[in-house]
Amino acid sequence: MSNTPEELTNHSYDGIQEYDNPLPGWWVWLFVGSIAFCPFYWAYFHAGIPGRSIHDQYNDAVAQNLRQQFAELGELQPDRATLLKYLDDKRWLAVGESVFKTNCVSCHGPSAEGKVGPNLCDDSWKNVKTIEDVAKVIAQGAGGRAMPAWGQRLHPNELVLVACYVASLRGSNPPNAKAPEPEAKVIPPWRG
Ligand code: HEC
Repeated sequence: MSNTPEELTNHSYDGIQEYDNPLPGWWVWLFVGSIAFCPFYWAYFHAGIPGRSIHDQYNDAVAQNLRQQFAELGELQPDRATLLKYLDDKRWLAVGESVFKTNCVSCHGPSAEGKVGPNLCDDSWKNVKTIEDVAKVIAQGAGGRAMPAWGQRLHPNELVLVACYVASLRGSNPPNAKAPEPEAKVIPPWRG
């Protein structure tokens, strides 16, 4: 496409003149079309209708995945046999780990090395003598609610798996480990 001098707009800035070129039709329609489309897009994804935003879809997918996984487990009981069974099960410990990362690191630290709450990686325990006690303390809380009760907040399987994860950290010796609580006592190994 070449322009003739008649198509010049009749202004000039510092001696520079310009042609009166219209925008290509396809471009204009794309522009108009995208503006016309956007209220529908917004209404569908962002108007607050549950289940449609990308976050809702992600959470649904995670929940569905967890349900499928837990269907495979059945409902775990916090008894000794079950806790020892999952203590070495890498795949399920990963679920326990994610429960820990979501709910427990604020007080126990990212490696359970201890912050406000005690270090959970050493051999000294205050409310715990056996592996069943780990699940019990998590379910019921301790220290006059300084350690919250999680029994009503976690799925029973999450509770068992986070107990296994915590028990599996024993001996992991993280850096910056907090010293044992004064009342804590050294207890026998989980399988002892
Ligand atoms: C609000 C802070 C807080 C959160 C969150 C928290 N804890 Fe605790 N936890 C504590 C405190 C404080 C104690 C010590 C209680 C005591 O002195 O008897 C404790 C104690 C424990 C004990 C017993 C330790 C022992 O030596 O007897 C276990 C096991 C434990 N927590 C696991 C967990 C798990 C698993 C989670 C996440 C599901 C969690 N905690 C979340 C503060 C917390």
